Amino acid sequence: MEAEVRPIRGREELEQCFDLWGTVFGEGRRFFQSRLDGDRAYDPSTTWVAVAAGDIVSAAQIFPFDARWGSGTVTVAGIGSVATRASHRGQGLALAVLNAQRAWLADQGVPLALLFARERAIPLYERAGYVRLPFGTTVAWSPDGAAARGGYRVRAAQPGDWPDIRAIYAAQLDHWPLGHVRSDAFWTDAVRWAQQAQPEGVWLVAEQAGRLAGYFFGEIPEGGSSGEAPIRLWEVVAHPEHPGAAEALVDDAHQRMGAPGDVRLSLPAGHILARGRAVAPGRHRGMWSLVNAAALMRAIGPVLMRRAEDAGMPALTLRTGPSDVRLAWAGGVRTLQGADLLQAVVMGIDGDQGLGALFPAATPFLWSLDQF
Ligand SMILES: CC(C)(COP(=O)(O)OP(=O)(O)OC[C@H]1O[C@@H](n2cnc3c(N)ncnc32)[C@H](O)[C@@H]1OP(=O)(O)O)[C@@H](O)C(=O)NCCC(=O)NCCS
Repeated sequence: MEAEVRPIRGREELEQCFDLWGTVFGEGRRFFQSRLDGDRAYDPSTTWVAVAAGDIVSAAQIFPFDARWGSGTVTVAGIGSVATRASHRGQGLALAVLNAQRAWLADQGVPLALLFARERAIPLYERAGYVRLPFGTTVAWSPDGAAARGGYRVRAAQPGDWPDIRAIYAAQLDHWPLGHVRSDAFWTDAVRWAQQAQPEGVWLVAEQAGRLAGYFFGEIPEGGSSGEAPIRLWEVVAHPEHPGAAEALVDDAHQRMGAPGDVRLSLPAGHILARGRAVAPGRHRGMWSLVNAAALMRAIGPVLMRRAEDAGMPALTLRTGPSDVRLAWAGGVRTLQGADLLQAVVMGIDGDQGLGALFPAATPFLWSLDQF
């Protein structure tokens, strides 16, 4: 089938995308429209489509965000809402849209792309140059009355709590790799969108001696914990000086639910709630793509230099090719390319004395509010 692949041209085509996504995902078009219309950073050049005989038959959306990498940041293109009209599937249209988006992102100097794949779509994304890498962790959590022990008071969040909630998020960001560096606009837009899309969502805060120590955002169904993950946890963040606040918040949510038993929580690997508990790989299917190696090195080069200095690796130099980087220092030379370079940046490198110091082992995670 002859199809033209390109960004949308104007509002009418965006409306057609809302229709397509609403039909394909069964969420209703309003879910998609409120997400993009409510995002003041939205740029129409991030909505890509395949057009056949004048109709939009396939579409995918880019949700760009800044991710923390060490002391620096890397722009990541989040790819979501990948959909082809049922009548036009199996003709390579989604692949063509993904490939065109990736080429455009490379031109724009975007280093990395990330998407969350449904099981059936994994082969398609592999063909489009995405690699599946571990993403976060799942923990079986059982209540142990920590709220009472830690002396935290848990209550519903109030409008005046937002500056503290943001500060707690920002403080914790240093501890999880490739977390979303949230702008003020993101906080406002994403919270409004989440409240529209998930009206059942509850924001709680934990305080100790009158100061905010952590917050929780999730859905807490009443009664019955027989189903999977009865608490739908969107995020639970404790200030680094108040690790017990996370436990107190989930404990409180569990009590509100009025049901005993374990709950499964999706968390960043290394989250305070995961320590000392049985963990399993995260249920999300994060797939990453190396889009522009030179742009990547521009973003993370200064961090690598600082790490080399700290690790006593004098005179580190970086030479970047189209999809590889050659790292040379007084004690060694290594070249990382393609999927290996991607893996080093996203997951770190275990068991390598030189490179391990530059790329410490990590498991990235984005909270639900950040996902696409
Ligand atoms: C996934 C989807 C976008 C693929 O669109 P498409 O234009 O048919 O894709 P292409 O022709 O480029 O590639 C076909 C591949 O898509 C995948 N695919 C096919 N049907 C699928 C389905 N119902 N759901 C998910 N993936 C599917 C397969 O990997 C298929 O490869 P195969 O034919 O070798 O098995 C389309 O099937 C769709 O809209 N599905 C429903 C929404 C969805 O699942 N989106 C992805 C969310 S991660």
